[in-house]
Amino acid sequence: KGITTAAVCVYPARVCDAVKALKAAGCSIPVAAVATGFPAGQTHLKTRLEEIRLAVEDGATEIDVVINRTLVLTGQWEALYDEIRQFRKACGEAHLKTILATGELGPLTNVYKASLIAMMAGSDFIKTSTGKETVNATFPVAIVMLRAIRDFFWKTGNKVGFKPAGGIRTAKDSLAWLSLIKEELGDEWLTPELFRIGASSLLSDIERQIYHHVTGRYAAYHDLPMS
Ligand SMILES: *[C@@H]1O[C@H](CO)[C@@H](O)[C@H](O)[C@H]1NC(C)=O
Ligand SMILES: *[C@@H]1O[C@H](CO)[C@@H](O)[C@H](O)[C@H]1NC(C)=O
Repeated sequence: KGITTAAVCVYPARVCDAVKALKAAGCSIPVAAVATGFPAGQTHLKTRLEEIRLAVEDGATEIDVVINRTLVLTGQWEALYDEIRQFRKACGEAHLKTILATGELGPLTNVYKASLIAMMAGSDFIKTSTGKETVNATFPVAIVMLRAIRDFFWKTGNKVGFKPAGGIRTAKDSLAWLSLIKEELGDEWLTPELFRIGASSLLSDIERQIYHHVTGRYAAYHDLPMS
């Protein structure tokens, strides 16, 4: 009882509905919106910024943005910084999670640089993937991002959160991710403010495992509230 997901993440057009539904249920789970032309980011900058502003206006308190991968692949680091900076400003008070789409960034050096730039530009979280790339969150990429977070913390004293996403489906997978965070960043990062799992497909397995823990058997399909 009292255990919830850290946020509910929806497309911008559904923010109003999600806010309304959660409010009606007397529930204070924050609503997050993907924005900036998720997942590919192939819309004009002006449109992407407006999308953020509208989602915030509708009640999203967290915004997940995608970056322009070409800026990374062609080494235009300042332009990348400027773009994320504009996302940051458009978010206002809302938290900014920057999705790097690491499956499309090439070598790990690019992942490290993009991570640092996203943090320098004011991201509250850096996130591995949209879940739509052909390669999702992997452990090598995660270690690079976590060490970038650690380096940034040592240099600035600012703690930035980490969110692996895409293809994380089982409760066992989530334990591996939890241990990785504990090993690389320590217990203080194991909070909803600093660690999230993009987990659309994970919830039903966690429910199955809890059901098994409580009853000693796995639930039939109809025993679970949602599948
Ligand atoms: C992404 O960056 C590249 C390289 O500067 C640029 O040509 C392209 O128009 C940008 N894409 C978008 C959607 O703004
Ligand atoms: C990536 O994640 C998405 C969303 O969970 C999933 O549908 C897809 O199969 C995953 N791809 C790989 C290669 O794991």
